[in-house]
Amino acid sequence: MLIKRRRGWEIPERDATPESVYLRRRDLLKGLSAGATMLAGGLMPLRSAWANDDPTADLYPVTRNPTYTLDDRFPEPTPEELATTYNNFYEFGSHKQIWQAAQALEIRPWTVIIEGYVEEAKTVDIDDLIRQMPLEERLYRHRCVEAWSMAVPWSGFPMKALVDFAKPTSSAKYVRMETFHDADMASGQRQFWYPWPYVEGLTIEEATHELAFIATGLYGKPMPKQNGAPLRLAVPWKYGFKSIKSIVRFAFTDERPISFWEETQASEYGFWANVNPEVSHPRWSQAMEKPLGGEEKIPTLLYNGYEEFVADLYKDLQDEPLFM
Ligand code: MTE
Repeated sequence: MLIKRRRGWEIPERDATPESVYLRRRDLLKGLSAGATMLAGGLMPLRSAWANDDPTADLYPVTRNPTYTLDDRFPEPTPEELATTYNNFYEFGSHKQIWQAAQALEIRPWTVIIEGYVEEAKTVDIDDLIRQMPLEERLYRHRCVEAWSMAVPWSGFPMKALVDFAKPTSSAKYVRMETFHDADMASGQRQFWYPWPYVEGLTIEEATHELAFIATGLYGKPMPKQNGAPLRLAVPWKYGFKSIKSIVRFAFTDERPISFWEETQASEYGFWANVNPEVSHPRWSQAMEKPLGGEEKIPTLLYNGYEEFVADLYKDLQDEPLFM
């Protein structure tokens, strides 16, 4: 039986990014400009704190792919200190300030399982995987279903490269992705009313679309734990909950996967979850969004501004609930 609890991103739009959060962020930024911030182990500079011991650190920064640009609404990337300290990662708590709790995430050893309708199932070591993928940097917008947004430089590789590596057979219609499951490490997973582990899915057409990106780094460094180290999805035309973090399993299936949020609350969160300002969430409008750190709301765009790239994916699917 599902237990209905109010989750962070179910709050009304007027409360989606409370002023107090912005004020706390400003305080944080002030602290940062003084050169240091308090982390679990003591005082250390925030910018380098989570890149220190990552075995792939030598790979970054990677060359930016100039194809993907920001727009006038959102001309500058979000400051790193905001994108790395205001997060959704329910495995570590249902509030936004989980970045310290997420430092408990153990990212080595880390293996990725590839299974299902593939020529040969395999388990790959994360470092072997990352080192053989075509790494690049992309500036992408990110629109959370809660009506906040950011724009960040992800490092990583096109998801198509991973699909090619997996060699799916013709029976594969979907990719089902799964986050780690370890309640000893991630205390949020003790919240038994959620259907752990976090699961997401894409159609094969979406997964091989040029915009679908597997991110392994952020701001020219390995991925911070709180943002989904060591690898996460970035599908910028969809609401942010589709961009599953800390993936351990890619299963190629012929059945549409049921995602974590769909299983939790199917009347509010569906499979497609494409951004559309004209289709409200059942409890708040999606017409506007508030960029992290911004003072003003800005209009949300269809497919989060990526319509020219992705509209074709959906031209024969107009009967589907594409925007929830
Ligand atoms: N992935 C996992 N495993 N757990 C989560 O709670 N939250 C999602 C998505 N991926 C989430 C997740 C949501 S709602 C959003 S908006 C983005 O991660 C937030 O990514 P960010 O913290 O890097 O901004």
